[in-house]
Amino acid sequence: ARITLRQLLDHAAEHGYGVPAFNINNMEQGLAIMEAAKACDAPVIIQASRGARSYANDIMLARMIDALAEIYPQIPVCMHQDHGNDEATCLTAIRHGFTSVMMDGSLEADAKTPASYEYNVAITERVARMAHWVGASVEGELGVLGSLESGHGEAEDGHGAEGALSHDQLLTDPDQAVDFVMRTKVDALAIACGTSHGAYKFTRQPDGDILAMHVIEEIHNKLPNTHLVMHGSSSVPQELQDVINKFGGRMPQTYGVPVEEIERGIRHGVRKVNIDTDCRMAMAGQFRRIATENPGEFDPRKFLKPAMDAMRDLCRDRLERFGAAGNA
Ligand code: G3H
Ligand code: 13P
Ligand code: ZN
Repeated sequence: ARITLRQLLDHAAEHGYGVPAFNINNMEQGLAIMEAAKACDAPVIIQASRGARSYANDIMLARMIDALAEIYPQIPVCMHQDHGNDEATCLTAIRHGFTSVMMDGSLEADAKTPASYEYNVAITERVARMAHWVGASVEGELGVLGSLESGHGEAEDGHGAEGALSHDQLLTDPDQAVDFVMRTKVDALAIACGTSHGAYKFTRQPDGDILAMHVIEEIHNKLPNTHLVMHGSSSVPQELQDVINKFGGRMPQTYGVPVEEIERGIRHGVRKVNIDTDCRMAMAGQFRRIATENPGEFDPRKFLKPAMDAMRDLCRDRLERFGAAGNA
C-alpha cells in the first residue's frame, strides 16, 4: 500500500527505527527493493531523482510504482521525489502519484549554486503549502552537502555545489534549523553533516572531524519532533569495491559512511537514510563479474538477475540494521 513520508516517519519515530530511501531508475531496482522489503517485512521509501524521471519517463515510473504496489500489497511504500529543485518538479511528481517530495532549496534551481537562506525558506514554504493541500509530504534541506575534507568532495568532483564552500555552509546550524522548520512546516529535514553524494566521500576512514555526527545530536536536541534525513549515506563497502576491482574495474580506494554511524544517527532522530551509490555498486559489480567470467554471454537477464539479487541483499541488510525490518 502507498503511504506518505509523514505517515511512515511518524511510525518510525514512535518505534525508534530508520527507513532507508533507495533510488530507483528501472524495473530491476524496483523489484530488488520490494523483494528485500518483503523478505524482512519492512516499509520502504523509493525515490526518483530528476535524472531518474527523465531516464525512465514519468509515465513509465508512475506505472512501475503502481505495479510494485500491486505485486507487494503488504509492503507500505512511500514514493518520493529526490532533490526537487523547484515548484514544477515537485508538483509534477505529485501529479504522477508520488506521495512525498523533497524541495532542495539549499541550492538554487540550477542545483549547483548554494542558495541564500531566505530563498530556501521561501521556496520550501511554498512547496510545503501546495503539497499539504493535496496530502503529500515534504522534505526540505538546510545546509549544503559536501565533504569536510579540504580540497575533496562535491565541489571538486562537480557532482554538487560549485566552488569552495565554507565549513559553515557544510554543516547545518541547529538554531537556523529550528527557524527553518517553524517557517516552512516541512515534514522532514535533510541536514548536512559532512557527507557527500557518490562513491568518493572520504579519502580515509571517517572520524568526528570529517563526519560530524555530533551536529545531528545538537539538531535533534533542539528539534526532538522533527524527522531528520541523512543524504549521502552510502557506506561504499570494501567488499563492493573489491568485486568491481577484481573484475576489471578501477575504482580508487575510498570510504563511505559506516553503518554504525548511521545507527548512531537513528538513535538521534534520523528517520530517512538516502542510499543510491551502494545499490549502483552492488549491481555494477555483478555486471563486471558476469562479463568477465562468461565473456560469451549476451542475454541481458543473465547480467540483470545477479545484479538484482546483489542489490536485494544490500537493501535487506540496511532495512535490518536500521530497524525497519518487522515494521511493515
Ligand atoms: O542525488 C543523488 C542521487 O544519487 C541521484 O543521482 O541524479 O544521478 O540520479 P542521479
Ligand atoms: P549516496 O550517493 O551516498 O548513495 O547518496 C544518495 C543520496 O543522498 C540521494 O539523495
Ligand atoms: Zn541526496
